[in-house]
Amino acid sequence: MSETSLVDPFGRRIEYVRVSVTDRCDLRCFYCMPRGFKDFEEPEDWLTFDELERVMAAFARLGTRRIRLTGGEPLVRKDLPALAARLSALPGVHDISLSTNATRLAKSAEALFAGGVRRINASLDSLRPEVFREITAGKLEKVLDGLMAAKAAGFHPIKINMVVMGGVNEDEVEDMVDFCLEHGFTLRFIETMPMGDTGRNAAGYFVDLQQVKARLARRFDLIPGMMPGGGPARYVRVAGTDLHIGFITPISQHFCETCNRVRLSVDGTIYTCLGDEHKLELRPRLRAGCSDTDIEDAILEAIALKPERHEFRERPEKVVRFMSMTGG
Ligand SMILES: C[S@@+](CC[C@H](N)C(=O)[O-])C[C@H]1O[C@@H](n2cnc3c(N)ncnc32)[C@H](O)[C@@H]1O
Ligand code: SF4
Repeated sequence: MSETSLVDPFGRRIEYVRVSVTDRCDLRCFYCMPRGFKDFEEPEDWLTFDELERVMAAFARLGTRRIRLTGGEPLVRKDLPALAARLSALPGVHDISLSTNATRLAKSAEALFAGGVRRINASLDSLRPEVFREITAGKLEKVLDGLMAAKAAGFHPIKINMVVMGGVNEDEVEDMVDFCLEHGFTLRFIETMPMGDTGRNAAGYFVDLQQVKARLARRFDLIPGMMPGGGPARYVRVAGTDLHIGFITPISQHFCETCNRVRLSVDGTIYTCLGDEHKLELRPRLRAGCSDTDIEDAILEAIALKPERHEFRERPEKVVRFMSMTGG
């Protein structure tokens, strides 16, 4: 297959797959998953490591070069480093990254690095233990331990993802810049997205990141910057430092024209857009004994469903699944 097999109806090359290895999580960030939520996928419906490897091998034959492991919280899935090692050995795949809340990173950082993961995105919305607990129902200390372990293990870059919320953590953006400067992390600010009821409720805390950028520019000398990877963030760099700050603005300034990704959920569904319900269910086909060519055909069928853009602004009621179900 040529490098260009995965091109969607709008001419975008899809070379990046985000794989949700579980919809479960040990935290309950209020904008993501409802407190007390327990209606998770049953283990028999999870794609096994063999099935995941088979599907990702098909994606790689079609031109996928980068895989991100996400969730839910990917590190609650047993033996994740072993899966990472299997996926990083797939011909054609040259980048395996992880999105994590970092609570379990202290235990598995070295094994993940040995399994070929090199880049980590970690959620961190507050540096104040009580605010962190209000947002996530978890302990800040474990996350900080995890981040330091990741740094010691050699991951680079480590990107801190902060969902900025008015009246919750908006007053911490400068502190987060100082924290990332101190530790050599990249920082990305994210706008709340109306995913599921939790996301829609959090829309009440929405902060336009253009305003955050203007505020930071008063204290820091910000110059236009770039980060490799072609992701959705628009970056600036703090002059005289290596600190890149990204702004992920799905609401105030959407970035759909450069979208290069699809998502595979733990139950084997391909979602073609975070802000849309278009999907293709692979698991029934896999378990009915389909061939590798059938998997490739199904992936091409899914890519053909990719919409031009999300409608978070125009139709915030549209996406009923939470972020943790699709794999953020
Ligand atoms: C769903 S999590 C999955 C990976 C891992 N558990 C973590 O927290 O990084 C991925 C990212 O989605 C973000 N997220 C979840 N719900 C969101 C929402 N409604 N709006 C904006 N970002 C959201 C989180 O802050 C996190 O950075
Ligand atoms: S954002 Fe990540 S850590 Fe927070 S509840 Fe969702 S999946 Fe869990």
